[in-house]
Amino acid sequence: MCGIIGYIGSKNAVPIIVNGLKKLEYRGYDSAGVAVNNNGEFCAVKKRGRLTELEQALKKTPIKGNIGIGHTRWATHGEPSDINSHPHLSEFNTIAVVHNGIIENYKELKAKLEKLGVKFSSQTDSEVVAQLAEYYKTKFGGSLLDIVSRVAQALEGSFALGIMAKDNPNTLIAIKKDNPLIIGVGKDGNFIASDVPAVLEHTKSVYYLADKEIAVIKKDSIEFFTLEKEPINKEVSLIEWDASESEKGGYQHFMLKEMLEQPKILQATIKHAKQRLSQKEVLDKLDIKQYTKIVITACGSAYNAGFVAKYVLEDLARIPVEIELASEFRYKNPIVDDKTLVILISQSGETADTIAAMREAKSKGATTLGVVNVVGSCIATESDVCIYTLAGPEIAVATTKAYSAQLVVMYLLAIKFASDLGVIDEKTIKALENDVNSIPDLVDVTIKSTIDTIAKYSALCIGYSSIFFIGRNIDYAVALEGSLKLKEISYIHSEAYAGGELKHGTISLIEDGTLVVAIASNPRLFPKIMSNVEQVMTRGAKVFSIETSLVNESDRIQHKDLFRIKTHSINELFSPSLSVIILQLFSYFVAANKGLDIDKPRNLAKSVTVE
Ligand code: F6R
Repeated sequence: MCGIIGYIGSKNAVPIIVNGLKKLEYRGYDSAGVAVNNNGEFCAVKKRGRLTELEQALKKTPIKGNIGIGHTRWATHGEPSDINSHPHLSEFNTIAVVHNGIIENYKELKAKLEKLGVKFSSQTDSEVVAQLAEYYKTKFGGSLLDIVSRVAQALEGSFALGIMAKDNPNTLIAIKKDNPLIIGVGKDGNFIASDVPAVLEHTKSVYYLADKEIAVIKKDSIEFFTLEKEPINKEVSLIEWDASESEKGGYQHFMLKEMLEQPKILQATIKHAKQRLSQKEVLDKLDIKQYTKIVITACGSAYNAGFVAKYVLEDLARIPVEIELASEFRYKNPIVDDKTLVILISQSGETADTIAAMREAKSKGATTLGVVNVVGSCIATESDVCIYTLAGPEIAVATTKAYSAQLVVMYLLAIKFASDLGVIDEKTIKALENDVNSIPDLVDVTIKSTIDTIAKYSALCIGYSSIFFIGRNIDYAVALEGSLKLKEISYIHSEAYAGGELKHGTISLIEDGTLVVAIASNPRLFPKIMSNVEQVMTRGAKVFSIETSLVNESDRIQHKDLFRIKTHSINELFSPSLSVIILQLFSYFVAANKGLDIDKPRNLAKSVTVE
């Protein structure tokens, strides 16, 4: 949700910033801009549209300077336009600002400044930061640190900011609250960025800025201060991701590359999660006997992963699990206390609603566990205990590998809790662990054995205007993810239903030629979901059926309008890890056959850092 990059050093900042923006484009892509300070003069180029528009504009109007800031935008206040693009300059061009977040009191601040005669040029909330900084600079003077400290204390809401002053070409300032910002330590200069991939080709040494910390960044030094300008010491962290991991590596889309990486990242995640679950610090916090219930809260696909986890945890550990959308949980006065374990699932670790849900849970005394992909992110650092998914950088807006990694962490957690509560015996635990260990290979086999068939079948599905996904129990949870994946990248309307729920209203939407995707991975429920399939086929639907191989052939429906893919045998509780692969590939190829911009679907952005 908006990407920020900044550079100060001995090189020309412009190509560094533009390259960094390419790595951040997944955070927002409706406009982009760059500003540099060239020997005491600000030069800015800003363009509505994709980054290529900015690159074209920079060819026509080349700019350069050794200090600069850049931004790729996902509009919140003010339509996408050249003028509303960042960086924002103050009225007299003395301050330049890039912002990610929402300044909640911007109307009030803007009105005050306008009364004082300040002229605004955009409709954004962000411009108020530049104008306020210029106003304080004129009124109170002082260093750029003094000005930023004063400005930040006047702001309400969420912000990650990169700030430059025209008369100070040697200093770049960064500050954040509730939005991510890292500081990269380079050889020929230093960086600020919303996310690690933007700086990976220059450095693996970064500082994670905490809320309300200010970084004063020069060419060869970085200092940190509190909002009240007290100096603070911070430790540099070494990033383990490789620069090539955030490159497309010859694939047409990041989404395809990321789906194909799943066997490898699942293996790494399983190994890491097992280690984590045997560490004393984790064992103490996660002693399940202390808790009377578990609440899982998350957004989007991470919520869908939590939905799967609810079935697995309840089935194996026999402990009550509630699943809540983080955006609802945060405002509902939730019933959680010191006997509740609240699990936050998040790829980015920066989703505004999930962060707020975590803080709400903590304020009520609950213990919080973050299952997070991005190292050093807000949820990773603020939750009481964190287990990382080792999915590596996920660039495609639609999550695939991070979702799969979340599933295996949750399976291992369920086995651990079941074992600690003594509700399953040693032999079963061993068998379940072996089942989880086999997932990476089975995912590999699933991809290799189905990809060509799904690619061909998907080409036949691009004409549907609506597609329904059905499943029962855990397959219903997977249906939710299949439906979300399809609609976000293919723009085909879709809904997911529990199979038994269809006849309570939804079946009226089924007509001749509607496509229904049925997930049938549970042998016990196979006849039930097949009866739902019969019901929709009787009403003219075509069916794409994803079926367990653990049923008799005679139990399967044979019909010209039913296209079947069988999944490999796996414990039914872990079957989502295989059926979701088929659903991901299906969505991908439908969108690819429609010629859509798969990695950057319209209106969406990865890392939803605003409400
Ligand atoms: C869908 C998708 C989103 C995210 C959601 C939560 O493909 O990626 O629904 O799952 O925005 O994001 P994180 O996991 O970063 O909290």
